[in-house]
Order: sequence, then structure tokens, then C-alpha cells
Amino acid sequence: MALWAGGTFRWPLSGAELHEYLDRSRRPDSPMRVYRVVSAETGDWIGHLDLCPSVRNDGSGQIGRVLIGDPRLRGRGIGRRMMAQVLDVAFFELGLWRVELHVAKANPRARRCYRSLGFRRVRGMTLERMVGEAKYPTIRMALDRETWQKRRPQVVTS
Ligand SMILES: CC(C)(COP(=O)(O)OP(=O)(O)OC[C@H]1O[C@@H](n2cnc3c(N)ncnc32)[C@H](O)[C@@H]1OP(=O)(O)O)[C@@H](O)C(=O)NCCC(=O)NCCS
Repeated sequence: MALWAGGTFRWPLSGAELHEYLDRSRRPDSPMRVYRVVSAETGDWIGHLDLCPSVRNDGSGQIGRVLIGDPRLRGRGIGRRMMAQVLDVAFFELGLWRVELHVAKANPRARRCYRSLGFRRVRGMTLERMVGEAKYPTIRMALDRETWQKRRPQVVTS
């Protein structure tokens, strides 16, 4: 869970904590948009992520809590496709110019997924996220609108 959501939630994840997170995102003053991904075939809820434009209103935003819930569905390009849809919202609907995210160093699949979308590591620092007693070195990655405009055709057709 720490690799997924850092310190956002406590283990074991409770329904109450999830509701609190969703309620917070629904407040009129919350910039956060929470997305769920539903299978077109089965109607099942298979994925989740959120997008939060910066409260500084500087044209940047952050994607977080990216998840394909069922491990059997991972590694099939679903994460990449759901990220692509939210990047379209970020850059073309909300007009952001830069999107960032944090990913644990020890999460190679997520890092590959983000790299394949055009995200690149922001050099300069590695954050060490503390979750309980454990430390998770975390990399910051960023993607700008111009790069996404160039990368997008490859992503949506692959
Ligand atoms: C991280 C996560 C959301 C990625 O979603 P996913 O559906 O598994 O990822 P994708 O299949 O879209 O992409 C990841 C893999 O496909 C590759 N890939 C898929 N399509 C590709 C393409 N057209 N071109 C290049 N690479 C591609 C990625 O490079 C990567 O390689 P791998 O399968 O060998 O590991 C998912 O694995 C997950 O939920 N993990 C657990 C929670 C988590 O770690 N969340 C991230 C928090 S930062």
C-alpha cells in the first residue's frame, strides 16, 4: 500500500478512511478530481487515480494514487491508457502545462509505465517517504504539455 499511496492511507485500509478521502475531494473548495476506471466489458471497477491542479494556480498539477486493483490485470497497458486519458484532461481541458507525480524507486513497473508516457525524472533530489518505520526513496517525475502533445499519438494508437 505504501508503494501505491505513500502515507495517504494507513494499513489496513478502512472504508472510513477511503470515504474521508472521497469526501475531501468532493468539497467545493477542493481542486482534486478523483477518477475510477470501469471495464467496458464487465462494468467492474478496475482502476483508480486522482489529479490535483496546484492550489498555487501556477499551471501545474499532480497525479496520485494510481492503481489497477487486480494484480492479474496489471502489465496489460490499462494503467498507461487510463493515465493517457487523465493527461488529456490535465493538459487540454484544464489547460495545465506540467504534471508531476511521485513514484517509489522500488516500483519499476510504475516507473516504466510513466516513462512510456513521456514522464522523466526531475533531477536534483530523491525524497525519502516515511511510512511508519519504513523508508521509501521516492522519485519525482514530470511531463509537460508540449512533450505530451508529441508523445500522445504514439500512446493512444499503441
Ligand atoms: C503501476 C500501475 C498503475 C501500472 O498500470 P499497469 O496497467 O500495470 O501498467 P501498464 O501495463 O500500462 O504499463 C506498465 C508496463 O507496460 C509497459 N508498456 C505497456 N504498453 C507499452 C507501450 N505501448 N510501449 C512501451 N511500454 C509499454 C510499461 O513499460 C511497463 O512494462 P512491464 O509490464 O514490463 O512492467 C499498476 O501496475 C498498479 O496498480 N500497480 C500497483 C499500485 C502502484 O504501484 N501504483 C503506482 C503508484 S506511483
